[in-house]
Formats: sequence, structure tokens, C-alpha cells
Amino acid sequence: MANRDGFSGKLGFILAAAGSAVGLGNIWRFPYLAGQNGGAIFLLVYLICIFLLCYPIMVGEIAIGRSAGRDAYGSYTKLGGKRWGLLGLFGILAGVFILSFYNVVAGWAFGYFLNISFGDLLNESDYASYFGGFVNDIVNLKSAEGITKSNLIFSLLFMVITAFIVGQGIQKGIELANKIMMPALYLILLGLIGYALTLPNAMAGVRFYLVPDFSELRIQTVFDGLKQAFFSLSLGMGCLITYGSYLNKDQNIPSSAAIISIADTSVAFFSGLMIFPLVHFLQYKLQITGVATAGPPLIFIVLPQIFQEMGPVLGRIMGGAFFLLICFAALTSTISLLEVHVAYLVDQHKMSRKRVVWILALLIFVLGLPSMMSQGMVPSLNKLLFYRGQDFLTFISDMCDISLTLGGCLVCIFVVRTWKIKNMNVELNYGNSNYQNSFLRTYINFAITYICPVLLGILSVLIILEKFIGLEVLF
Ligand code: PFF
Repeated sequence: MANRDGFSGKLGFILAAAGSAVGLGNIWRFPYLAGQNGGAIFLLVYLICIFLLCYPIMVGEIAIGRSAGRDAYGSYTKLGGKRWGLLGLFGILAGVFILSFYNVVAGWAFGYFLNISFGDLLNESDYASYFGGFVNDIVNLKSAEGITKSNLIFSLLFMVITAFIVGQGIQKGIELANKIMMPALYLILLGLIGYALTLPNAMAGVRFYLVPDFSELRIQTVFDGLKQAFFSLSLGMGCLITYGSYLNKDQNIPSSAAIISIADTSVAFFSGLMIFPLVHFLQYKLQITGVATAGPPLIFIVLPQIFQEMGPVLGRIMGGAFFLLICFAALTSTISLLEVHVAYLVDQHKMSRKRVVWILALLIFVLGLPSMMSQGMVPSLNKLLFYRGQDFLTFISDMCDISLTLGGCLVCIFVVRTWKIKNMNVELNYGNSNYQNSFLRTYINFAITYICPVLLGILSVLIILEKFIGLEVLF
């Protein structure tokens, strides 16, 4: 494909792919799932999923993209024929839905950042009802304090920033944005951990997070660990195929994939190391034993309370830094999601990047409205009759999780049956001449041929059954 933009080198690619991986999944979802699933034992299951199942698939996806040099749909059709293009389209569609709800949650974080840094968020007396009001505040454009609380505006702004960056192209847009935001993100995170660990009762939080209690291990822990690992590494929907297509032949894919996995896992790990000491500090400060460490509202309800306890100045600084961290993490992911769809339309339909970016951004923003309105504003979206009374945002997010693990299973089948392992190995040999005779090759080949497709196939079916009929019925 002539004149295709590409990453300038290894660092650009790694930062962009790690940026895609590091996101709300690490800082919002990982800690609350860990809280729900027994802390350390969840961490252990998650790590096993990352290195046993996700790493080989990541290597495979990047190899597919680099070998074909096209978007997700184009890569599958080029290497496997038209029929496999459907898998590419399936991934692209999943990405559209992920971005639709992801942008809503990113909008909440953006709104919290502005309202904590410049507004009155630290003066609230009840953060649960504040959050309830906030996520339902769609049309009230101006609050008494002068900063809007409308999450319609926040999520629109977030989408505009995303579209602006993607519109600049790979090197001048995506790569540059990641080169700025990723180091900043690490710095803020490490600063916040350093601070959190000095607080009273912090070590109780560290213990909860790091000392596994095997009696807490349940099948739900495995389901949650697996889907979180896939979501977190942006696997199973063509994102890394797309980014891989912009990668030079002289880059070493297995080592880049290892760095990306470690970078992503370390942010998830560090987020827990920041959040659990903070939560235990709050328990100590309020002299209570149970603070909700679980569930989606963890960072929106519990953490603002903690920042309030720190006092008006320090709370504003720490709270502002925390929500800025989340915004950076979310933005590096939303740009990668949008790029998957943009690459498809630019490559396959020869449309202009600048135009496509804005059209898609608008469409996906509109697609996110039902998720936005499902937090209480529209009762029928808040309690879906066909989905065991859960809300629409949860439904979409669950469906996306399923499509990622299923997508991962199909990637393996594609490599083994159609593209062939030997072609993948040839691709992986570029930029890594030792690969052919290495233990890593044996491991990646074995995992992609047997371990990943079998385990992912079984677990995906179980997760689907669990979602629709419930765990109690299953086991
Ligand atoms: N990995 C992102 C996160 O953990 O927040 C979410 C994501 C981004 C999923 C890009 C899929 C994707 F293509």
C-alpha cells in the first residue's frame, strides 16, 4: 500500500501500543475487579492469563498486521481470503461499541478532573449521591459554581480531542500524543503511590492486595481475570493488527510484545498499589471496617472522599493529578480504538483520514448516548429486561468482553489453519534472527496451536452462559 504512514521506530510503536493497552481498564476496572474478587488472588489469576494466554496472541496479532500491512479487515482478507475478512469486520464492530461506552466513562473522569481541580467537588457531603447525580446530569449545562456537570459535554469534548489527535495521522498524531502522555502517566502514578504508601493504615491495603487467600478463588475470578486481561491488552479486535501494520520489518515483535505486556501489567499492578492503601486509609480515618472496594463506582465514589479527607489544597492537587492520570490513560486508548475504524475506511474505501475521523467520531459519540442515559435517566435502559435487570452500559461492556475472548480464539484458529504457523514464524524472524531456534518460538507455537484456542473457546462459552443464565444455574 503506497504512502502509508507508519511509526518512526521501536519506541514510537511500543509507546503507542502500550498506550492503547493502558487505559480505563487498568486504573478504573482492574482495581474494582480485584476488590470484588479477593485482591491478591485475582492479581495472580490475571498474571497467569496475561502470560499464558494473552502474550502469544498479542505476538500473533502484531505479526498478522505487519505481514499484511493493512487494516484489520484488509489483513485478514489478504492473508486468508474474503471469508476471514468477516473476523476483521467483527473486530472493527466490537471496537465501535467499546469506544461508544468507553468514551462515556472517560467523560466522567474528565468531568471529575475539571470539577476537582477547578470546581467544588471536594465540598460534597455524600459522594454516592453526587456520582448518581453526575452520571445522570446530561442536559444541565451550567452548575451554580460555573463549571458544567453535564457529562454529555464532557464526553463530547473527549471525543473531539480523540478525533483531533487521530486526524493528525500516525507519527504526528498518535505517536506524538503517546510520547507525551505515557511518561506523564507513569510519573503521576508513581508520585501518587509514593504518597499513598505514607498514609496511616496503608500497609493493611498492601496486604489485602498482595497476600493471596486461596479460599477466595472462584470460577468467577477466572472469568473476570481472563476478560480483564483481554480488554486490558486491547486484544481480539484488530487493534494490534492495525498498529502492527504500521511497524517496520526490522523491529523485533516478540520483544516489543513482551515490553507492551509488562508496561500494561505494571500500570494495572501499580494502580492497585495506589488505590488499596488509599481505601484502607479512609477506613482508618473514618473508623469503619468496610469501605466498598468493589464495583464500578470505586474511583468515583470512594476516592473523592479520600481526597476530601486530605484537605482543600492537598486534596485538590492529589485528586486533580489522579483524574488527570485517568484522562491520559483513557485518551491513549480511545485514539487507538478510533484508529482501528479509521484505518479500515482509509485503507479499504480510500477515504480521506481527516474527513473520516470526524464522521466516525460523531457517529460513535451518538452510539454512546444509550450507555450514557442508562445510569438512571431512562429506566428501561437502566434495567434491561432481557439482561437480568442490568443496565445498558454493563450489557454493552459485557458483550464486548465476550467478543474479545472469542476474537482471541478465532485469531489462533486463523493462524493455525489458514495463515499457517510457519508463515507467522517467518514474519517473527524479521528483526529477530535468533527467534527460529529459540524456546520462545516453541512456546508461542504451542500456545497458539493448543493452549489458547482450547482454553479461550471453553471459557468464552462459559462466560456467555454465565452472562445470560447466571452462574448459579451453571454450577
Ligand atoms: N486496553 C484498554 C484499557 O485497558 O482500558 C481498552 C481497549 C483499548 C480495548 C483499545 C480494546 C482496544 F482496542
